[in-house]
Amino acid sequence: MKPLIVANWKCNPITFKEVKFLFNSIKKGVRGIKNVEVVICPPFIYLPILRAFAFAKGYGGFAFGSQDCFWEERGAFTGEVSPLMLKNLGVKYVIIGHSERRKYLKETDEMISKKIQAVLRANLKPILCISDISEIKNLKFKAEFRNSEMGRKKKIGTSSRIKNLIVAYEPLFAIGTGKPCSPERAKKMRLTIKKKLNVPVLYGGSVNSQNAKDYVEKASFQGLLVGGASLKAKEFIKIVRNIS
Ligand code: PGA
Repeated sequence: MKPLIVANWKCNPITFKEVKFLFNSIKKGVRGIKNVEVVICPPFIYLPILRAFAFAKGYGGFAFGSQDCFWEERGAFTGEVSPLMLKNLGVKYVIIGHSERRKYLKETDEMISKKIQAVLRANLKPILCISDISEIKNLKFKAEFRNSEMGRKKKIGTSSRIKNLIVAYEPLFAIGTGKPCSPERAKKMRLTIKKKLNVPVLYGGSVNSQNAKDYVEKASFQGLLVGGASLKAKEFIKIVRNIS
């Protein structure tokens, strides 16, 4: 798997003009880089137009992700966006269970489990964010994963797609604080996660162009989830270039 550099724009930018400028700057800066997968996760409303920009002039070097999605495919669920809608739009990744959603939207383990299963069912790749290993404990899909590991695939609908799961380790003290977790400490957590779920693990939390390489090279993460630094085109391009 190529290293994944995921840009989590969160609830930014607020004008279309800024979105266009940011995206086109990144596009220009990462052109030609083939050994890293750059994933842009903008607010939902910008996804269709950014996809169009990405493919304009024949450049399709980006993948897109959303920052959340609902667990049902369709129906009377006001305000929600379903995994199938994202799938039909060409989205590949879905961030699930980000700590800001757990905190401000009160997302629970049950909701997060349902979302992961729905994303897997749609054949998209969930990026499950955890700030601690305890956050894996109560997720339902874990049992399914174990079962699939034991070869009992038939019983469980989503297990054959569990290989699409990605975990992002994002310690709370490091998110948006400018105080990243040390690569040594992050590496320990990566190994702990790997023991529980044998899936790719990303690091997130105050990633910048100075520290990005350490997480991938020293701590052997399979990529990065970048918040604040992904809104600054130059800084984000440097991160991608340092990893490539
Ligand atoms: P940060 O955010 O890079 O601004 O710390 C990371 C995240 O919340 O995904």
